[in-house]
Amino acid sequence: MLRQALLIASRSGGVRKLVETAPFTRDVVKRFVAGEGVDDAMRAIEALTAEGLLVTLDVLGEDTLEAGQAESTVKAYVELLNRLNGAELGRRAEVSVKLTALGQSFDEDLALENARRICTAAKQAGTTVTLDMEDHTTVDSTLKILHELRRDFPGTGAVIQAYLRRAEEHCAELAYEGSRVRLCKGAYAAPEEVSFTDKDEVDKSYVRCMKVLMAGKGYPMLATHDPRLIDIAGALAVLNEREADTFEYQMLYGIRPAEQRRLAAQGAQMRVYVAYGQEWYGYFMRRLAERPANLGFFMRSLVSK
Ligand code: FDA
Repeated sequence: MLRQALLIASRSGGVRKLVETAPFTRDVVKRFVAGEGVDDAMRAIEALTAEGLLVTLDVLGEDTLEAGQAESTVKAYVELLNRLNGAELGRRAEVSVKLTALGQSFDEDLALENARRICTAAKQAGTTVTLDMEDHTTVDSTLKILHELRRDFPGTGAVIQAYLRRAEEHCAELAYEGSRVRLCKGAYAAPEEVSFTDKDEVDKSYVRCMKVLMAGKGYPMLATHDPRLIDIAGALAVLNEREADTFEYQMLYGIRPAEQRRLAAQGAQMRVYVAYGQEWYGYFMRRLAERPANLGFFMRSLVSK
């Protein structure tokens, strides 16, 4: 119930104002968000890659309703990718993109065109783009745009959310050679007709999806902080005789950093999702919804200030 309430709050303008203007918020947000500008992002990338970690960068923003705002997001990604190119970080850092930040909610063609521009800049920087998956109502449109982009940019990554009932079927469709697929549990509110709402059911779905991806020919990107699922991933890699460079683990910036380093030190490919920018509200609220301890951390900061 708390999770649902926080996810509803993540889309409420009133709560947003309250949280954004609270004096304590910024310190807490810093734990999950690398900063507001591209320089902050570059500092985070340099620190993480120096420790042997890979990075995927997200310019914060979503649910854009204006072409002008979508244009600003494209420019922010292109600026970042040019910086990665100049610093020769293209092999260690890629970008994650939310199509609703590029105009998907009001003009699918514009979102595709904007995504193409980001993919072109990524290609020049020697790296790739992964399309984040958002609210369940956007899945079909996102997969359609993914297939369009893959014609010219075959390295474009997809995201499958295990909490959706169609997840396993989508994994089977996407487990082909060269296909980069991030598997996550899913961070949005979704009705029972289309999603598993019980935590155990979501975990079981994650395992079924992981089995399909790890046995397939594509490149699985296993995005989870869940120790049980990470152990199962390791066992599936052995079972399917996968070398360490044929799949990767992914975690969010600020969550289980010691585990991120442990996996990298063992020789696994470990990618950290680093979000930055001013539009941190929705992202931050989803992190609170995922874990009561995060909420506790936030509430404690209220009383300690
Ligand atoms: P869950 O939140 O159920 O946690 C399972 C266990 O992990 C906990 O019981 C605990 O043991 C451990 N754990 C979790 N958080 C911890 C913490 N802070 N400290 C210590 N232990 C902790 N979602 C989406 O809908 N679309 C997307 O495109 C993406 N993209 C994405 C990229 C990457 C790289 C990641 C890691 C995640 C996403 N997500 C996402 C978010 C994802 O769907 C999900 O909401 C979160 O990853 C949380 O789910 P977990 O799998 O970590 O399990």
